[in-house]
Amino acid sequence: MDGDRPSRPTSGSAARSESTSPLHAARPEAELIEQERLWRAEFPVTNDLLYLNSCSLTPLPQRGRRALDTFAEQWTALGGRAWYDHWVGELEGLRADFARVLGADADEIALEPSVSAALVGVASTFDYGRRPKVVVSDIDFPTDGHTWLALAERGVEVEFVRSPDRIRVPLELFERAIDERTALVCTGHVYYTSGYIQDVKALAALCHLKGAALVVDAYQSIGAFPFDVHESGVDYLVGGTLKWLMGGPGMAFLYARRDRAEQARPTAIGWWGVRDPFAFDVEHLAYGPAARRFEYGTPAVAAAFTARAGIGLLEEVGVSVVRERHMTLSQRLADGALAQGWTLRCPTDPRERTAIVTLEHPDAPAAVEALRRAGVIADSRPGLIRLSPHYFNTADEIDRALDRIAQLRTPVTI
Ligand SMILES: Cc1ncc(COP(=O)(O)O)c(C=O)c1O
Repeated sequence: MDGDRPSRPTSGSAARSESTSPLHAARPEAELIEQERLWRAEFPVTNDLLYLNSCSLTPLPQRGRRALDTFAEQWTALGGRAWYDHWVGELEGLRADFARVLGADADEIALEPSVSAALVGVASTFDYGRRPKVVVSDIDFPTDGHTWLALAERGVEVEFVRSPDRIRVPLELFERAIDERTALVCTGHVYYTSGYIQDVKALAALCHLKGAALVVDAYQSIGAFPFDVHESGVDYLVGGTLKWLMGGPGMAFLYARRDRAEQARPTAIGWWGVRDPFAFDVEHLAYGPAARRFEYGTPAVAAAFTARAGIGLLEEVGVSVVRERHMTLSQRLADGALAQGWTLRCPTDPRERTAIVTLEHPDAPAAVEALRRAGVIADSRPGLIRLSPHYFNTADEIDRALDRIAQLRTPVTI
């Protein structure tokens, strides 16, 4: 870990972005080094690997592991009694955690097994008779398109807005696609290959002007920068805990704006979504209050424990601090890659993107494998090497990663 001291950039916009960063300006170097040491102590993976894949899955923090131990102890000691003594309370605590991160009310949040499941629930509420059209972009995550393509036999027509640069989707292109036949737009808040931050508030206004709804996939945005879901005006928003919320797999959420939620009659449902699950009334369906009606069956309680730990850690570090670190570290990476001659598939302005830096490469899986052999954990998407630092990475790590990446410019061998 001694080798992980942040070194100062000497020139170029990496230097500019660091010197203009309030985080760096406010902190003497020794204080920053100590802060980084504490951040990294939560993530033992940083002792062994140069981990640049948090936009896929942030490694388990120490407190997540302790939370899992607590869950196992409760289950071992109490069996089914643990539901009443602990787990129902934990699940309600998690609902409140998601609400706090989003600026929502707790009853506007449904706990979901995955974003894909959450979208199926949302898709089941629309009347496609009058408005058969759904608008998605061609750089959205697959599930954002598949959810509606699966409804083709019921008359749903999916129109894909084409991103001109495969980085951004200009609002004008959405505006052109939305009309009186449009039921909804479903798109990302942050695009998963480019990190581009979509202006969902402006998009919500465009949708509402034409009477359409906006369904946002916020998996790549939530926890990466401050966001107020009420202020954005979106109708539905989905996300989960794999990435910037640092809570691992098995838990996701659905935000349904109160007026939407209260009128929604989902046909994709489960017994946890009804008004009184413990009445065990098989013959009558009484939807649960507000967003709760979108819940399915027994939730993954272990995942709720790690999710709460991850969100707790995020709040301790501070979402604004995370944002600042993301901009500084990802800009150092982007500037370094540009200087090496790479073609980037992400915005070069850090204010336009999250901590995702993608580099075009003809054999990205082989390149990522070569990096892995050198102890650098990245990810590939078709034609792209995707690198995503988190707040616990250091400037020195970015420089070491850049040294490795430089070797991928020629045939893939490290
Ligand atoms: C933008 C986006 N949406 C959805 C998902 C996956 O959603 P789920 O596996 O919870 O259905 C991911 C990544 O895993 C993602 O990056």
